[in-house]
Amino acid sequence: MKDYKKELDASRIPGHIGIIMDGNGRWAETRSKSRGDGHKHGSEIIEPVMDACIELGVKAVSLYAFSMENWSRPKAEISGLWNLFEYFFNTKLDILVGKGIRVVHSGSLKRLPPKIKRLLADVVKKTAGNKKIFLNLCINYGGRQEIVDGVNNWLERRKDGEMFTMKKMEKHLYTAGLPETDLIIRTSGEYRISNFMLWQLAYAELVFTDILWPDFAARDLYKAIYDYQQRERRFGNI
Ligand code: FPP
Repeated sequence: MKDYKKELDASRIPGHIGIIMDGNGRWAETRSKSRGDGHKHGSEIIEPVMDACIELGVKAVSLYAFSMENWSRPKAEISGLWNLFEYFFNTKLDILVGKGIRVVHSGSLKRLPPKIKRLLADVVKKTAGNKKIFLNLCINYGGRQEIVDGVNNWLERRKDGEMFTMKKMEKHLYTAGLPETDLIIRTSGEYRISNFMLWQLAYAELVFTDILWPDFAARDLYKAIYDYQQRERRFGNI
């Protein structure tokens, strides 16, 4: 395989990468393992991906970890995911803090188990002073709901006659304060967006790879960024 890392243009590294981490279930199935094992392996990919992003100078990574639609999965799989998130927060917090990673959350807190809410609030607070890179965990997240929540949030403070604008929308998204999303990667050979970062992807480049998320490695990230750098981003211009 080509050494994509060497080929990267350091002056055009994406500021914000969104990742749809798909394929945990299929990865497990081909190994006769449980879907939970697939998610566990998937969770182990986060740290090396963050390390590679830090080294390249990426400023924010958004990970689609649990969508609002995932509530329709079997109860056992959902509770396994909560246990995994809990384990992740308990074991990785010091590591995240040490690496200068600032954790933020995108999604609704409403249906989350109280323990997860507490752990999330804790990790967000403890990493708030970190400046190297944002890790935006999209948990109980839906792109359409994000827009609806943002508009409602604005409506609550709306002054008489005030109009809504794109700028105001951006200020009321979960990602307010994060850099513009430049690149969205989806693993596992599915060519869909599945309600992820709908507003933010307006001018993002999309890269799809057949690699299943638990097999995703730094070299696949370099390849995705390389592909991104081959594109000509015109933003509607000619
Ligand atoms: C999609 O694969 C993946 C998920 C629904 C969960 C993503 C969660 C992780 C990667 C693990 C943990 C994350 C954190 C933040 C600790 P799928 O189950 O839909 O796979 P399939 O399409 O092959 O069935």
